[in-house]
This record gives sequence, C-alpha cells and structure tokens, in this order.
Amino acid sequence: QWPRKIFSGIQPTGSVHLGNYLGAIRKWTQLQNSRDDVTVCIVDMHSITMPHNPPVLRENIFTMAATLLACGVDPAKSTLFVQSSVLEHCEFNWILSSMTTTPRLAQLPQFKEKSRLVRDIPLGLYVYPVLQAADIMLYKATHVPVGADQLQHIQLAQHLARTFNGRYGELFPVCHAMIEEGDASRVLSLRDPSKKMSKSEANPKATINLCDAPELIMEKIKKAITDFTSDITYNPDSRPGVSNLVNIHAQVTGQTIQSVLDEAKTLDTAKYKERVADAVIEHLRPIRERVQEQLSNKNELIYMLEMGAEKARSQAQQTMRDVKQRLGL
Ligand code: ADP
Ligand code: NA
Repeated sequence: QWPRKIFSGIQPTGSVHLGNYLGAIRKWTQLQNSRDDVTVCIVDMHSITMPHNPPVLRENIFTMAATLLACGVDPAKSTLFVQSSVLEHCEFNWILSSMTTTPRLAQLPQFKEKSRLVRDIPLGLYVYPVLQAADIMLYKATHVPVGADQLQHIQLAQHLARTFNGRYGELFPVCHAMIEEGDASRVLSLRDPSKKMSKSEANPKATINLCDAPELIMEKIKKAITDFTSDITYNPDSRPGVSNLVNIHAQVTGQTIQSVLDEAKTLDTAKYKERVADAVIEHLRPIRERVQEQLSNKNELIYMLEMGAEKARSQAQQTMRDVKQRLGL
C-alpha cells in the first residue's frame, strides 16, 4: 500500500568511524543508488539532549554533512538535510508526546543507560525516542536502517503509527526496522575484538576514523589485537581479531572473504596487517579528500543543506497539515 521510503538519522558527532561507514552510511548510498527513496537527516536536535559544546556542535554538523557527501550520499538522488532546519520535527514531537505514556519511555534501555551518566536528567533525553518517531513518521518512512540497539525505539515509532491510525484514521505506514542480520558488516574494536568498534570506546587506537591520516591508519592496524596464531584464517568466534581484519579487508576491496584468504595464504599476521592497512588507506583516501574539499567551501555546503531542507520541508508540511486536520487543531 505504502511506497517504499527509507529514513536514516545520524547524529552530528565529530568523526565517523569505519563501523559507521561500512555498517550504515555506505548501505544508505547503495540503497540510494538502487533507486530507493532515501532521506538522510543530520539529527542535531537529538545531540542537545546530553551536555554539549555549541561551537563544536556547529562544526560537527558541517563535518557530518561533508562526510556524508564524501561517502556518496547524493543530494540529487536523496534528501539530505539538518533536522533543526525543518520545524515540523518539533511540532510533531509535541503531538506524538501527547500520545505516549511515561512508563513506556521510562523502560527504554537507551534512556536507562544514558540517564545514569547525568545527575539531573534532561526531559529531552526522556522524550528523545518520541522525536525519533516524529522524524520517521513525518516522511512516512516504511524502512529504517538501524543498529540492533535501536530496535526498541523503532517499536515505539511503530506503536505510535498504529495508535495514530487507530484514533484518527489511517495516515501512517508502520515502519520496518532494517537490521543487519549476523556479523557480516559489524566492525570490531581494534583493541578489544569482543566489542564492536564504537565512538564511545575510550582508547582512540581502537577505532579508525574516516579522516585519519594514512600513517595513523597504518599504526592502528599494525597494533590491532590479534592472537598468537600467525596464519590468516576466518573464524569470528575463535579468532575475532584476525577475522575482523579479514572482514574489513573484504569489505573495502569488494572481495569475498574466501578470495581475501586465498591472497593472504603466504602471509603472517604482521605482513597481513600491512596489507589490510594499505587497502583501508586506499579506500579512504578519496573520501578523506572529498571531505576536505567540501569543508573548504562552506557556502556551497550551506546552500546544499538548505536545498535539502526545502525538499524535506515540503513533505513534512504536508504531513503536518493532515495531522492537524485529523486532530481538530
Ligand atoms: P557508535 O557505536 O559509534 O556510537 P552509533 O550507535 O551512533 O555508533 O551508530 C550509528 C550507525 O552506525 C548505526 O546504524 C550503527 O548500526 C552503525 N554502526 C556503529 N558501529 C558499528 C560497527 N562497529 N560496525 C557496524 N556498524 C556500526
Ligand atoms: Na551508540
């Protein structure tokens, strides 16, 4: 019944790591290039729910926009914009808040986790998943690519779509969470391969950021934790460290795991790490150059984001007209 629409939100954090890129951003560009209707929203309103630094946030918004473009998000094919420039997100957030119960929000795992980090819990942190539902529903998204940790938030969005439709008549699709099955695209920490690569990891040597200099990438991969077996095999359960490198290698070169292993037959771990680092550096080089290029022309970036906001706005405004009419507002 509903046309297929993909919605992705990403917080404007300073740097994007290889896990974000391979596990999320690159997938969006693949969807976009296979002619899906893709909306990518830099969710700056979500970023202020925890303590933040305003000049840093402003820079991070630009850096994220530049990074998304550099990774292949194409404003001619997708809708790329900044959340706070489309006022309807907050307006709809209010309406959906009035349809959400407080116990439902209080039991969400991410709220429980994050609220432990601050002494006085901001209301925004609590309402965050409602704003997320508003983000999705404004564009009548049918598919939302997310990590497994976001599943409960998607379930809230589904619940709110059903509640709205039930009370006020069918207006919203019930979105579907696109969660990657298995570990195929999961990039692990270079320092602790029992965990995924994450910006919350304290050790900076554990993550590869897209804009890391080549020498730094080489150094990080050379020091990646592996094990005491020197040949290169793929077994994520018993040899997570080496398997993570094999996986990264396969993904950045577009090869299968088997062909990567065949090529690595004669190499020991130390030599293989250099091979992987070279492949990662080669893959990231043009991306890193494009980020710099985008950032050196801020006016163009601002213009591009405004065009994206305009596209988003016209959809969001139509949705809000229908919503308000249904609610008697
Ligand atoms: P982080 O864990 O660094 O805070 P986020 O939770 O903000 O990253 O995730 C943003 C997106 O990147 C999500 O879609 C998530 O599934 C994806 N992602 C994050 N880390 C990884 C990883 N190590 N491997 C694959 N995908 C990842
Ligand atoms: Na996270």
